[in-house]
Amino acid sequence: MTALLEIVGARKAFGGVRAVDDCSLTVEEGSITALIGPNGSGKTTLFNLITGYLKADGGEFRFRGRDVTGSDPGRLYRQGLTRTFQQARVFPHMTVTENLVVAGGYSWRDLLVPRVLGRDRSRADVLLEEFRMTHVAELPASELSYGQRKLLEFAAVLMSEPRLVLLDEPTAGVNPVMIDTMERHIRERHAAGVTFLVVEHDMQFVMRLCDPVVVLDNGKEIFSGPPSEVQQNPLVLDAYLGT
Ligand SMILES: Nc1ncnc2c1ncn2[C@@H]1O[C@H](COP(=O)(O)OP(=O)(O)OP(=O)(O)O)[C@@H](O)[C@H]1O
Ligand SMILES: [Mg+2]
Repeated sequence: MTALLEIVGARKAFGGVRAVDDCSLTVEEGSITALIGPNGSGKTTLFNLITGYLKADGGEFRFRGRDVTGSDPGRLYRQGLTRTFQQARVFPHMTVTENLVVAGGYSWRDLLVPRVLGRDRSRADVLLEEFRMTHVAELPASELSYGQRKLLEFAAVLMSEPRLVLLDEPTAGVNPVMIDTMERHIRERHAAGVTFLVVEHDMQFVMRLCDPVVVLDNGKEIFSGPPSEVQQNPLVLDAYLGT
């Protein structure tokens, strides 16, 4: 197995809060790795460090064997590392198609300047078809349901043909039918060679989809292993039950 993403000794503090505390983690190429842990255990902060949205206080980050410590989100995006957000981020006043087109043509930072390019239009059309969103293609994203917005955000990260996708709670606030749809799209992309790191509180979703499961507590990895072992692990039980 090849490590696609390697994190060694990552640290990030907010004042006195050590959100990520000497955390090391490897994501193998071709895996759907889950990142779970109680609220406030540092999952989103770790995502922000990996994707360059926050600068780490320390630690090394390697992606595809290269040192990417300190890289900005746009650069990582161009190298094939992209993510979704815990609260879905789409451009509300742009149409669904425009959201996809800008995602394909520009880095995340450049997305603040909405411009529509013709060349990405056909790829957007293919994704809309795949995500069964053709009927809402010309609607402003603000008119989508929350679940549809999450799907749109997922479709948007696929515009860049990424190698590694980080999903922050893809099913939170999403209805059961949409959760199945989300799962199907993850599986399809995984079968096509995309690696995933998924933060998720829905344990059934994690258990059927992910392997391995990594557990964070107080900013540190306390367990990494197959889903069949995670629920019996005493450290994990302690972290969740607070005993
Ligand atoms: N920008 C910030 N400023 C100050 N403290 C922060 C900031 N971001 C996160 N924290 C703190 O860092 C810790 C880790 O937060 P983080 O959002 O990474 O947790 P999480 O595991 O994603 O939680 P959840 O499951 O609730 O999404 C928490 O104590 C949180 O309050
Ligand atoms: Mg979070």
